Amino acid sequence: MKSIPLEYSLDTQAVHAGEYVNDTRGHVGPIFQTSTFVFSDAAEGRDLFAQEKSGYIYTRLGNPTVNLMERKVAALEGRGLKLKAQDKGEDVEVFCRAFASGMSAISSIAFTALSAGDHLLADTILYGCTNDLFDNLLPRFGIGVDFVDCSDLKALEQALAEHPNTKMVFLETPGNPTMKLCDIAAVAELCHDRALLVVDNTFATPILQRPLELGADIVMHSGTKYLSGHGNVISGLAIGTDPEFFKKMHSLQIDTGGVPSPFDSWLLNTGLKTLPLRMKRHCDNAMEVANFLDHRKGISRVLYPACESFPQKELAQKQMDGYGGVIAFEVEGGYERAQVVLNSTRLFSLAVSLGCVDSLIEHPYTMTHAVVPDEVKEMHQITPGLIRIAVGIEDATDLIDDLDRALSAK
Ligand SMILES: Cc1ncc(COP(=O)(O)O)c(C=O)c1O
Repeated sequence: MKSIPLEYSLDTQAVHAGEYVNDTRGHVGPIFQTSTFVFSDAAEGRDLFAQEKSGYIYTRLGNPTVNLMERKVAALEGRGLKLKAQDKGEDVEVFCRAFASGMSAISSIAFTALSAGDHLLADTILYGCTNDLFDNLLPRFGIGVDFVDCSDLKALEQALAEHPNTKMVFLETPGNPTMKLCDIAAVAELCHDRALLVVDNTFATPILQRPLELGADIVMHSGTKYLSGHGNVISGLAIGTDPEFFKKMHSLQIDTGGVPSPFDSWLLNTGLKTLPLRMKRHCDNAMEVANFLDHRKGISRVLYPACESFPQKELAQKQMDGYGGVIAFEVEGGYERAQVVLNSTRLFSLAVSLGCVDSLIEHPYTMTHAVVPDEVKEMHQITPGLIRIAVGIEDATDLIDDLDRALSAK
């Protein structure tokens, strides 16, 4: 495997980390699209199963193409943590496990961390399926769940005190779709020695925010989004430093089976190489689009952390290196007006998801957040007039022109 000094920046890590030259001398890592691996003899098969020898057995248990991609993600999320440890003359191992989807990563983290009788505290702003998993599935297994606004530290502290059996706190920051932020370092401080802090870093990516450096225990991603970047992969990732947790989660994954395909992992690994470049462009474009929306007639609210009007601008500057490509905005005229805009863009495709090179537009109220309870939608002003856009890497002027036309459509 290539040895990449930790001091090399994330741009360099994204291209080189985890890569190796295989036996065929192929420059790019191959796709090991195989379900099983041949043992050289019966003794080797026995030793591999007995874990007395390391090597590949069967792709649900491990696959070199998947492992390559996991090493790159671990390098991106864990570099800062490792640098800090190095400064102290210590070392820290950063583990990454890839899953069949972001939801598979979240459910595997939850089922590794929580047992019957344990409690989960989750933020009130979550991706719809995460909300549904926590609200409807976990309680069936005897796991208590409460939703608390994790941007309100007093409320979180009180909830932790009320539920001393809390084993896990889960939040997204920026949150979907309102871009609400949680102070990761402050929440980590509250959770310390009490509960595992899990942060969904899908919107920010390790290029813009590294929760492990801020004290989170586990970071997860929907690799479906920015990490792969081209809208052609479904995958999920979990990254952390506790070897026991990752061993337990691997064992759970072997039994539940939510592994990514070698082909998807290969695509994701290819996407990761341009992640720093793409994130810069997503951020620059989103800034221009947000500025345009902020001054456009017919729009009552723009939610983007770099906007002057964004209530948590200071926190955004403190914990993020950029604000990503997702913007939510509310049109005057509510549901009817929003439908016209959604149906009138040419470049922005009307589709859920985000983090693709091309721009997408969607309606959280009836689409991604349709399953979120009405009172939660109301609390966070996920209104019928709210539109979410995921700004791609096209020319910003063309994107603004497209939105301007859609906003004027009759
Ligand atoms: C913030 C966030 N987390 C998790 C997920 C789930 O990821 P996946 O669709 O890869 O299962 C999504 C999907 O949109 C998401 O937006």
